[in-house]
Amino acid sequence: MNNEKVQIFDTTLRDGEQVPGCKLDTAQKIVIARRLDELGVDVIEAGFPISSPGDFKSVQEIGKVVENARVCGLTRAVKKDIEVAAEALKSARYPRIHTGIGTSDSHIKYKFNATREEIIERAVAAVSYAKSFVEDVEFYAEDAGRTDNEFLARVCEAAIKAGATVLNIPDTTGYCLPEEYGNKIKYLRENVRGIEKAILSCHCHNDLGMATANSIAGALNGARQIECTINGIGERAGNTSLEEVVMIMKQHPDLGLITDINTKLLYSTSQMVSESMGMPVQPNKAIVGSNAFAHSSGIHQDGVIKNRETYEIIDPAAVGVNASAIVLTARSGRAALAYRAKLVGYELTKLQLDAVYEQFLHVADKKKEVNDDDIHQIVEQSKIRVQASA
Ligand code: KIV
Ligand code: ZN
Repeated sequence: MNNEKVQIFDTTLRDGEQVPGCKLDTAQKIVIARRLDELGVDVIEAGFPISSPGDFKSVQEIGKVVENARVCGLTRAVKKDIEVAAEALKSARYPRIHTGIGTSDSHIKYKFNATREEIIERAVAAVSYAKSFVEDVEFYAEDAGRTDNEFLARVCEAAIKAGATVLNIPDTTGYCLPEEYGNKIKYLRENVRGIEKAILSCHCHNDLGMATANSIAGALNGARQIECTINGIGERAGNTSLEEVVMIMKQHPDLGLITDINTKLLYSTSQMVSESMGMPVQPNKAIVGSNAFAHSSGIHQDGVIKNRETYEIIDPAAVGVNASAIVLTARSGRAALAYRAKLVGYELTKLQLDAVYEQFLHVADKKKEVNDDDIHQIVEQSKIRVQASA
């Protein structure tokens, strides 16, 4: 099977940074942008230049330092927005303007008090105007997830005619089911004249916990760009998580989809973003959470100690995590205790292990987690002769 590349469009610095409390200054954004470039993302959405002088400056400075990725600035379908974005992007080697407008009936009626025809006219005007500044213009149909497919196809067709190189189909409210979102992409591929001239892009929010599934469904139906953020941060429940979609494609080669991401940098990038935004990563977060490669139940620990693959589908080294962790709790078994005792210097015989295990359970019932110091104490206090393994 031929592998097809899916472009990774990172919007950590735009959609991600919109989160209350996650604001970054220009210097912090530059550090993250450099890391995203090193990680291998194809596009960095650096900000929304008209929104503030600080954001303008960030987009400008990021444009100066990014070497490989395209640098993108967001705009509304408003002339002034587009002019300001074009100005901010002048320093970028590969600039992209991301412009668009709401297309769902609810957006058309309540946000714009307009008609469908007027929305198409405004979309075309925005794309044509953006095209007068840069070659690479991405058009977004905001709330495409709740937009009627026939109308969405008309908007997309008009945007391509006006010069859009990428069509972003956002599930802005995170409403779609994976099958529904996948079918939307398929419908556009089959019903938009000129679609071969543009790349379809998924931009899914996580309000119902389906952003990752929806993005993958989109890619399986022909989208060749996924918009996502590190740690899945973003408005409300967040955006599609970059590390999740990338690892899904890597762990399922049968899908025939690949990215250029250096997955070994995923964990450290996640930590970097979490620390600079002051936004902790939930411990059970897929791929980069502190528990993603930790095992605490006796049955699982026994399996992992015998062979990691019994309970792990990803080699931790593939995402830059040192090793799987065997965490000692009251649910742990003898195999885990013997394994951890050996790591701290005690090679226990079967009889010794039985004695130490009794003590261990008493301690574990009182504590959430038994650490290396506890192991020393338990072994020493059980007054058995143990053989130092070192
Ligand atoms: O969620 C959304 O619709 C967006 C657009 C502005 C691209 O972030
Ligand atoms: Zn969004």
